[in-house]
Amino acid sequence: MISPTANSIRVFLHLIAVAIWVGGQIVLAGIVPKLRTAAPEALTTVARAFARIAWPAMIVIVFTGAWGLSTEHVGDKNTDYMVTLMIKMLMVGAAIIATIIHSAGASKLAKALGGALGLLCSLAAAYGGVLLAHAS
Ligand code: HEM
Repeated sequence: MISPTANSIRVFLHLIAVAIWVGGQIVLAGIVPKLRTAAPEALTTVARAFARIAWPAMIVIVFTGAWGLSTEHVGDKNTDYMVTLMIKMLMVGAAIIATIIHSAGASKLAKALGGALGLLCSLAAAYGGVLLAHAS
């Protein structure tokens, strides 16, 4: 069997936390419209319960991501790698800001735009990670 390493455990934790953050948003996007008609009074409780899982997951993502970067010799990387990394970091920042706007905003626009941008930027950050991990 291939031996587990600290590196493989770090990537595993990064991806499990990404699955919670991104997967949870997609599952909620499917559930919320049904909940809005079936049990509108439960919406806030469900949203808060998800936030209590999603934000710790984001902390794990940032921690394991920074840990990963610390194992790379970033100074030796080529321009393509650096540009991809910068775009990924921008997407992470935008996803966090959009999700905060989604949670804190009261208007329909803040909810809809914040939620949609939060998910899209998270997906873009995830694809940026795949590009970085599989750069030759
Ligand atoms: C400050 C935040 C983040 C940092 C510093 C970071 C850093 C990294 C790095 C350096 C890699 C390259 C692979 C490796 O570590 O071995 C990576 C991979 C990856 N990241 Fe992140 N990341 C961050 C946030 C995110 C977020 C928010 C997502 C998605 C929502 C994400 C999804 C992924 C995915 C899917 C991979 C590919 C793993 C693979 O294919 O092996 N990352 N990340």
